[in-house]
Amino acid sequence: MQISTPHGGSLINRINPNYDYSHINKEIELDEIALSDLQLIATGAYSPLTGFLSQRDYQSVIDKMRLPNGFIWSIPITLPTDETTAKKLALDEKARLTYKGKVYGMIEIKEIYKPNKLVEAKRVYQTEDLAHPGVKKLFLRGDIYIGGTITLVNRPIHHKFQQYRFDPLETRNIFKQKGWKTIVGFQTRNPVHRAHEYIQKTALEIVDGLFLNPLVGETKADDIPADVRMKSYEVLLNNYYPKEHVCLAVFPAAMRYAGPKEAIFHALVRKNYGCTHFIVGRDHAGVGDYYGTYDAQRIFDHFTSDELGITPLFFEHSFYCTICKTMASTKTCPHEKKDRLILSGTKVREMLKNGEMPPPEFSRPEVIEVLMRGVK
Ligand code: ADX
Repeated sequence: MQISTPHGGSLINRINPNYDYSHINKEIELDEIALSDLQLIATGAYSPLTGFLSQRDYQSVIDKMRLPNGFIWSIPITLPTDETTAKKLALDEKARLTYKGKVYGMIEIKEIYKPNKLVEAKRVYQTEDLAHPGVKKLFLRGDIYIGGTITLVNRPIHHKFQQYRFDPLETRNIFKQKGWKTIVGFQTRNPVHRAHEYIQKTALEIVDGLFLNPLVGETKADDIPADVRMKSYEVLLNNYYPKEHVCLAVFPAAMRYAGPKEAIFHALVRKNYGCTHFIVGRDHAGVGDYYGTYDAQRIFDHFTSDELGITPLFFEHSFYCTICKTMASTKTCPHEKKDRLILSGTKVREMLKNGEMPPPEFSRPEVIEVLMRGVK
C-alpha cells in the first residue's frame, strides 16, 4: 500500500504570495469559518476544491454528496456574505478576501446566489432546529453565497500551535520520512480520554502510523478550548505513546457538528493529508441526540472503497469494564451497562468545574491535571 492519492487525483495548491492585488478594489469580509476554509482550500486539504462552491456544485453536494464531476463531497464549502456587499459585486470580477481589514486572498467571482438555507439545513444536518449549533451558525452567516476560484495571498499568522501546523504536502513528506505506508487519521474536538486512546492504539496495531489531528478551528462555546485540548495531548503523548509511530498536527477547520456527513468530509480531508485509514467511532461529529450512535459509520456504505480512497476503521462504543478490568467495547465485552464506566462530556465538564477528579479508568491523571488547570 502507498500513501493515499489526494481526492480528485492531485493536491490543489492555490497559494501565491506574489499575487498583485493593488488594482482590485472590490472586497468581501470573511468570517472566521470562511478564513479557515480559504486556507484549507489553498493548501489542498480540501482537494479537489479550488474555491468556494458555485451554485451547481453546491446543489450537487447537498443533493447527492458529490461534486458534479462525480467526486464524493459531503459538506458545502461556501462563502456567505450580506446583501449589501453582494450588490456591489459583479460576475467575472475579482474581489479581495479580507478578515478584520487585512487581505488574505482573492476570489474570481463566478456566481452570486441565494441559497435555500432550510433545504441546506435539512440535507446537511438532517434538522432545521436552530438549537443545533451547526444549523444555528448556518443561519447566522450571510444570506448570499459567492462562488469562484480563490488564491491565498497572505497566510493567516497563528501564534498558537505553531509547531503543529502542517500543510498536506508537509504531512505527506513527514509520513514518507518516517517510512510509514499506512497511516490512520484521528479527528477530535474533545479532551482526550481512555476510550480515545483505546481506539487509537487498537487502530495503530494494524497500521504504521497514527496521525492525531485535533480540530482547532471554531467550535461551540461550551466545548473545551483548543489550547487545553492540545496540552492534554502533549502530556498523553509524552507519557503513553511511542514517538516513532505518532504524528500530532492541528486541523485548522471549523467544526460543523454535521455527524454522518461531516464524518465523510473528515475522512476525505485526512486522505488529502496522506492518511490511508480513518477512525470513525460512536456518534462521530455528532451533537445532542440529532444522530444515531452509528449513523456516521453507516453513511460510508453509500460509497465504494475505490471512490472513497481511504479505509474507514469503525469502532463501537468503548469504555472501561470493571469486570474485564480493561478497556473494551460493546463488541468485545459481555458485561452489563452497570459494570461499565461511561461518562458523558457534560458530566466530565461538570466534575472538572466542581474540582472533582474523573477516575483514572476514564482519563489519564496527567490529562485530568491539565483539564483541571484549564477548566475553571
Ligand atoms: S468529534 O466530534 O470530533 O467526533 P470526539 O473528539 O469526542 O468528537 O471524538 C473523536 C473520535 O472518537 C470520533 O471518531 C468518535 O466517534 C470517537 N469516539 C469518541 N468517544 C468514543 C467512545 N467512547 N467509543 C468509541 N468511539 C469514540
